Amino acid sequence: MDKTKQILADYAARIDAILQDIMNIEENAIADTLISAMKYSLFSGGKRLRPILTILVAELLEGELDSAGKAGAAIELIHTYSLIHDDLPSMDNDDYRRGKLTNHKVYGTGIAILAGDSLLTYAFHLLSQLKIPAERIVKLVGLISEGAGYNGIVGGQVLDLEAENREIGLESLQEIHLAKTAALFRSAILAGAFCAEPTEKELAALARFSEHFGLTFQIVDDLLDVIGDEQKLGKKTGSDKVLNKATYPQLLGINGARASAEKSAALAKESLEIFGSKAAILNDLADYIIKRQS
Ligand code: IPE
Ligand code: IPE
Ligand code: MG
Ligand code: MG
Ligand code: MG
Repeated sequence: MDKTKQILADYAARIDAILQDIMNIEENAIADTLISAMKYSLFSGGKRLRPILTILVAELLEGELDSAGKAGAAIELIHTYSLIHDDLPSMDNDDYRRGKLTNHKVYGTGIAILAGDSLLTYAFHLLSQLKIPAERIVKLVGLISEGAGYNGIVGGQVLDLEAENREIGLESLQEIHLAKTAALFRSAILAGAFCAEPTEKELAALARFSEHFGLTFQIVDDLLDVIGDEQKLGKKTGSDKVLNKATYPQLLGINGARASAEKSAALAKESLEIFGSKAAILNDLADYIIKRQS
């Protein structure tokens, strides 16, 4: 666990350096408040798990690491936008995120919405500038827009809102979690693969891994909302209960939700078998996300 934490910290520092570079845009920007609001949420201590996965997968397949880092950073911008919008009063209405006041609490809802919009669009601008063959860029844009779009985060967030104050079954809940959370993990993981020359078999294995990994991650997020420590999480607990959200603990109880997370982490690891010991870090990450406290 400590070793995994150290590896995560090292990779996160690499991502942060890329993000700093990407966000060095004040000079040409027409709206200072916008850049300030974008940076406020981007540099407030996210775990950087999605871009870390992009780089790890590119390393696993001996791909081009510079583009993997940049594509991963673009995905982190999309993730950060999704969090800013997720916290808005008309969505989850949360006041804290990554240990700080949420974006709209500092900048107001108008700027928070626009900062999110700007992170999302800037991500695709950055992808357009990657120094790789154009057909690879097109592939990445397709893949990442899929994870972010109507069958990914946005669609999942709609289902999440519509499931408030309603009884839904496990199958529907899994569908929500796969869309709102696992879809962007899938984009991040496959983006890493497309920075190399993956075989169909490798792609299929990584796609399976990403779905189980993403589902595990969101089940644990649901659990941490009930049993987590606010200080460590950097966000308020009990938020799902206040909004009467559909979650794994609400449906299965704490132990049932934990068993589900463990089962899906085991399936994630099983998906990596074809890579043997080369996938050791990805395996450790699957273990790490069920034990994580933040
Ligand atoms: C939070 O994601 C939102 C979910 C999809 C559960 P993370 O837990 O990865 O958030 P940060 O980026 O580390 O703040
Ligand atoms: C994931 O769900 C949200 C996104 C896909 C952005 P949550 O609403 O549970 O995430 P947290 O708990 O606020 O981080
Ligand atoms: Mg939400
Ligand atoms: Mg939320
Ligand atoms: Mg949550």
